[in-house]
Amino acid sequence: MPSLVINSSKKQYEILIENGLLDHLESHLDPAVFYIMIADDQIPDIYLNQIAVATPNHIIIRFPAGEPNKSVSTFNHIINQLIVHNVQKDACILAVGGGVTGDLSGFVASVYMRGIPYIHIPTTLLAQIDSSVGGKVAINYEQAKNIIGAIYPPQKVFIDPITLKTLSPRHLMNGMGEMIKYGMIADESLFNRILTEDVFTNLESFIASALLIKKHFVETDEFDCGIRQQLNFGHTIGHALEAYFGYQKYLHGEAVAIGMVAAVTDPQIKETLVKCLQKYHLPTENPVAINKLKPFLQHDKKQMRIVTVAKIGYAEIIPSPF
Ligand code: GLY
Repeated sequence: MPSLVINSSKKQYEILIENGLLDHLESHLDPAVFYIMIADDQIPDIYLNQIAVATPNHIIIRFPAGEPNKSVSTFNHIINQLIVHNVQKDACILAVGGGVTGDLSGFVASVYMRGIPYIHIPTTLLAQIDSSVGGKVAINYEQAKNIIGAIYPPQKVFIDPITLKTLSPRHLMNGMGEMIKYGMIADESLFNRILTEDVFTNLESFIASALLIKKHFVETDEFDCGIRQQLNFGHTIGHALEAYFGYQKYLHGEAVAIGMVAAVTDPQIKETLVKCLQKYHLPTENPVAINKLKPFLQHDKKQMRIVTVAKIGYAEIIPSPF
């Protein structure tokens, strides 16, 4: 089973990647601990039932799926449930789901009783290769995405690629947007494998390759003051597009796909990137004039600078042309 260790200033944590991992979590969880599973209403019960086998003491808190629910009101609902169930500091949150669930649950864990442990069990490709690693946790406030948050690393990350079998093709491709980003910014050979091989027959290995890149960025710059910002390739325009359409039109990886194409100037690199994105049915054309996106760039802390790629496998941060 591929596994990685992430070193953060607060702790070291392990990422386990294994097909079928959810079938034997009892060897990785403590039956004496009280676990709080947090999941949205779209997560198939089968995953919660598998986790329940390994957690004799647990409750489940569910909330409506979707980015608009990564909100203060969902946060309040979860905190209220923790208080109602008398959850104490030695309990542990299990964030079961995609990026919204991970960000929200991790943020709850970071502030409830000044911090309790949490474990990510990501069930989308996007969460498995990006949001579950690096400790970024947050909720949105009105139009401002991730504006209330923290860097609060998990205890562990359990990745079972079999959970991706219940994802819709669109959500699977959504994750490919971020996978392609890793190749573009840091690893030309990964990019070429994504372009030429069948990623889905060997997902465990592609997930591990992507996470090795993420490990490098988050260990070098945990608090996002320098090199970690290269992970935002495609995100300046991507976030603005998501917000412009009220988080209804594009999934995150789709918006990032468009944002990456917009952030590359070299015509040959743009062409290769577009070819790769099209292989995974991701959008590449920005349908909104930049001046209409400007009000949405204002909420983006990256607005003054942008990440670009002038050679595949190497990112650089330059003054924003937008
Ligand atoms: N998702 C970008 C980061 O973790 O910094």
